[in-house]
Amino acid sequence: MRTTWDFAGTRALVAGGGGIGATVARALAEAYADVVVLDVDKDRLEDTVRDGVTGVVADLTSPAACRTAVAEAVRLLGGLDVFVHAVGVNDRRPVLETPDEVWERLLAVNLSSAFWLGRAAGAVMVPNGYGRVVYLSSVSGLLAHRDHAPYAATKGGVNQLMRVMAREWAAAGVTVNAVAPGYTETDLTRAYLAKPGMRASMESLVPAGRLGRPEDLTGPVLFLASAESAFVTGQVLYADGGRTLV
Ligand SMILES: NC(=O)c1ccc[n+]([C@@H]2O[C@H](COP(=O)([O-])OP(=O)(O)OC[C@H]3O[C@@H](n4cnc5c(N)ncnc54)[C@H](O)[C@@H]3O)[C@@H](O)[C@H]2O)c1
Repeated sequence: MRTTWDFAGTRALVAGGGGIGATVARALAEAYADVVVLDVDKDRLEDTVRDGVTGVVADLTSPAACRTAVAEAVRLLGGLDVFVHAVGVNDRRPVLETPDEVWERLLAVNLSSAFWLGRAAGAVMVPNGYGRVVYLSSVSGLLAHRDHAPYAATKGGVNQLMRVMAREWAAAGVTVNAVAPGYTETDLTRAYLAKPGMRASMESLVPAGRLGRPEDLTGPVLFLASAESAFVTGQVLYADGGRTLV
């Protein structure tokens, strides 16, 4: 496979082996990185594992589990240069119909794991004087989509968490950025897009005239994970076909 990138010798951890995480993990491995992928879903991990990609099963909803998962990845890889956070869940309901457990689950999976895993990754990268952290945010971190209150709050939270980490770790050579996709065709959006009229309605909001594909995120994520992006930190890169322009 032809690749634009050379990640030879790079040790990368990708949290979340779903549509986007697995695609990014594969792209990193095809660019010669050694990659560990974390996911709660064993079957998904089995699909993701290949040459250069090792899977570790982990439910990332507690600080202890996140600490252990990062320690295991560092042990398997022999260090850590890149951390990509691509774990996420959504549950679309109006605010007045959102129960506590939905709010708490989205906070834990989308935002708390971003803090717990990012902190553990930073603890390895900062003393080492090099690191690249990339969060999968969302256009929902900026726009006020109805029925997205907990999800939007977690993505806005990820953006600010990322900015503070970026500021604190910049002098140590560790950059922290986010890629914010628009609607992308993965399991996260499959059922929603299958509703009558929903796909056409979503497509009509995108100036590029189509929804995103996981492959649309690999270039943006790999750029921010690469040595070439050394002076870019604290940024949200929208990869949304122009969705946030309108
Ligand atoms: N697909 C989109 O339209 C879209 C748009 C904007 C942002 N994003 C973001 O991109 C990231 C990746 O999303 P995706 O589209 O690949 O979704 P996906 O549903 O395909 O993958 C998410 C993965 O997270 C894993 N996961 C869920 N809970 C977990 C837990 N407790 N512990 C460990 N793993 C857990 C799931 O098993 C799944 O493999 C998420 O942060 C998502 O919010 C996606």
